[in-house]
Amino acid sequence: MTRHVIANWKMNFSLEEAINFCKNIQDTNYDSLIIAAPMLYLSCLITNFPHLTFAAQDVSSISESYGSYTGEVSAKMLSNLGIKYCIVGHSERRKYNHESNTSTKAKAELCIKHNIVPIICIGEERKMRDNNQHMDYIKNQLFESLPQSNDFILAYEPLWSIGTGNIPSNAQLEEVFSLFENIIAKPLSLVYGGSINSDNAGEIAKVRNINGLLVGKSSLDIEELQKIIKAW
Ligand code: PGA
Repeated sequence: MTRHVIANWKMNFSLEEAINFCKNIQDTNYDSLIIAAPMLYLSCLITNFPHLTFAAQDVSSISESYGSYTGEVSAKMLSNLGIKYCIVGHSERRKYNHESNTSTKAKAELCIKHNIVPIICIGEERKMRDNNQHMDYIKNQLFESLPQSNDFILAYEPLWSIGTGNIPSNAQLEEVFSLFENIIAKPLSLVYGGSINSDNAGEIAKVRNINGLLVGKSSLDIEELQKIIKAW
């Protein structure tokens, strides 16, 4: 199974900066790299850098491919553009856009229908882990967010680790990944995200059955991202 490093740029970079970034990684052989760029830049980037792999950071949950839905971008539109991956259910979208497990599942199913691999994000808040409720919470998120098909990447992103510098221990990651494996039919592509940097990527790579990293802040620095890919 391919081991991915998914660069989640979030709402960062001007178009010029995004192009420069892609130019500078152009000559290296980064088969595992997936860049989740801002929606507005995808068309330009995929046209100019056909050898790189790009993901969308979100997609509409509306089942129609076209229609009167102001501001929405359908999975069909992403697929027409040649996009192969799409992040769904990221905790920042759940927080700022009130997205739910139900909409995450709808988005994941639409992606699969249009040959896009959804990168489904789940994870608990700090207080749930402190109260030892995290496994039940994650289990419920899984049941409510996952599509019927197994053709997805599952990203464990505990909210207390995103942008905080706190990362779970390898044992804590293995506990959650075991839950995933017990609940879902294999093979599964399991990814961890939250405060990854070049100092901790090598250690996290030792987690049993981990297939990828979802990198936020550190993916905005080209040297740091290259070091993460190397460590990984
Ligand atoms: P971070 O973000 O690496 O900046 O913690 C990860 C994410 O939100 O996907």
